[in-house]
Amino acid sequence: MKLFLDTANVTEIREAAALGVISGVTTNPTLIAKEGRDFKETILEITKIVDGPISAEVVSLDAQGMIKEAIEIASWHPNIVIKIPMIWEGLKAVKELSNKGIKTNVTLVFSPSQALLAAQAGATYVSPFIGRFTDISQDGIALISDIVDIFTLHDIKTKIIAASIRTPMDVVNAAKAGADIATVPYKVLEQMVKHPMTDIGVQRFLEDWKKVPKK
Ligand code: G3P
Repeated sequence: MKLFLDTANVTEIREAAALGVISGVTTNPTLIAKEGRDFKETILEITKIVDGPISAEVVSLDAQGMIKEAIEIASWHPNIVIKIPMIWEGLKAVKELSNKGIKTNVTLVFSPSQALLAAQAGATYVSPFIGRFTDISQDGIALISDIVDIFTLHDIKTKIIAASIRTPMDVVNAAKAGADIATVPYKVLEQMVKHPMTDIGVQRFLEDWKKVPKK
């Protein structure tokens, strides 16, 4: 399973890219707004840091508006993937964009039927949200498993991005469920690295190293 970083913060992206574990970046209007910067400027800076799929979301709610935005945004850089919300008009836009060779990431997916429709419309990626299910005491991983089962059974090539990740266990469970990608917030990436037993072990090694006779 590959890891994408789910942020528009270029400092976080630079730090994470230095680890060599990030294959792409996903953004959305909320993450862009949080940075308080120009949308195009932010996306272009991200394309310079990570050489992989960079998701940028449209905000129109009608297919023609989405397509117009998508063509403009996709022209900024070859690595840009257009994020489209999983609504009726979004499917129409995905179909058109797929015919034009523009990669899409259908987002705000909360059911296997939505994922199936997005794939049939020609989506390059689907983004089922885990965290917003767990936020309301439902099992977000079950959604990932169902979609993986359906896509595997029918040899559907659309890639599954586990999104709306809240904890390292969401990443582990998404991997076990067979997601192709998990897009993780920077804070979760930091948590994935850390373990108290590792810290204790490092300290113990250093303490013992002090006993080694030095010339
Ligand atoms: O990529 C989608 C993701 O950013 C949504 O996460 O935390 O807003 O549910 P969240």
